[in-house]
Amino acid sequence: MTTNFVDMPPQFSGGATPVLGPGMSYALDNAAPQAVDRMNALAEMFDVGTIRHLESLGVTSGWRCLEVGGGGGSIAAWLSERVEPTGQVVVTDINTRFLERLKGPNLEVVQHNIVTDPLPERSFDLIHARLVLMHLPERDSVLARLVGALKPGGWLLDEEFDVTALLADRELSPIDEVMKTEAAMVRVLTDRGVEMRFGRLLYGQLRSLGLTDVNSEARLSMVGGRSAGGTFVRSAFEQLREAMIAGGHITAEEYARDIKRLDDPNFATTSPTLWAAWGRLPSSPLTLWRFPFEHDSASTVASEEGERDAAN
Ligand SMILES: C[S@@+](CC[C@H](N)C(=O)[O-])C[C@H]1O[C@@H](n2cnc3c(N)ncnc32)[C@H](O)[C@@H]1O
Repeated sequence: MTTNFVDMPPQFSGGATPVLGPGMSYALDNAAPQAVDRMNALAEMFDVGTIRHLESLGVTSGWRCLEVGGGGGSIAAWLSERVEPTGQVVVTDINTRFLERLKGPNLEVVQHNIVTDPLPERSFDLIHARLVLMHLPERDSVLARLVGALKPGGWLLDEEFDVTALLADRELSPIDEVMKTEAAMVRVLTDRGVEMRFGRLLYGQLRSLGLTDVNSEARLSMVGGRSAGGTFVRSAFEQLREAMIAGGHITAEEYARDIKRLDDPNFATTSPTLWAAWGRLPSSPLTLWRFPFEHDSASTVASEEGERDAAN
């Protein structure tokens, strides 16, 4: 059964028009009406796998967690239950419209731009982000900031798409057809600074940032037009329709044909590949010296009060 984590009427103004500035160019703004469907689809497609990764990292009662770009909030809600009664969760987003109703005794919602806003150093036992950094031109420096916000011994888990991990092969499978709208969407997003292959780069990046116990795993699935995956694709197509057509990447007729195909009960395609990569900050002072910490003085995300003893 499908449970909608985000349940809001689709009558918001706004759209795909990007707001410029560091970290403000997100092309699939949560203010758009399509964002409701997209957040629910993301939760349905990926939460089970994300939670499996979080469980295997050992997240438990007492941990202090940061969920970056929490979107619909389903993972932040799961974390806040998991770390009860003494743990805490801070969930951030540049647009917190879906997160506001989550406020609870151990869960703090913060409107926060991960590119520019202050982030406390060495504060979290776990930091998780999913499908946020690939959208940010500043993704490499953001990844380094996140590492700097880990406590010694703390874990970073980042999950990002890689659209090149499985390319269509029609000789092998006749339903492996790339929709022209999909290619147009990749063009528009890439032009806006999105790294559509970021998932595959994560493993190397976490290692080069000095994390230990680094590992990575990918997942993907077949999606029908009427499935959560189909809803996810459709909502992104709709939100980027004008940009794809205005940019000359696709005609209105080609767009309409692809949208119709999503309604065909026989339609199926592969989801994008979602890479999960994780690693932990060394707890030994002997290895810590290698890590280039940033020095943000202020902290609007969280205070140090009540944090769990770092010596775990
Ligand atoms: C594709 S959605 C993913 C949402 C959620 N992490 C998930 O996987 O279900 C990307 C999220 O990142 C947020 N975001 C984009 N740019 C951001 C920034 N500079 N700082 C914080 N959040 C940002 C968006 O508002 C959106 O909620």
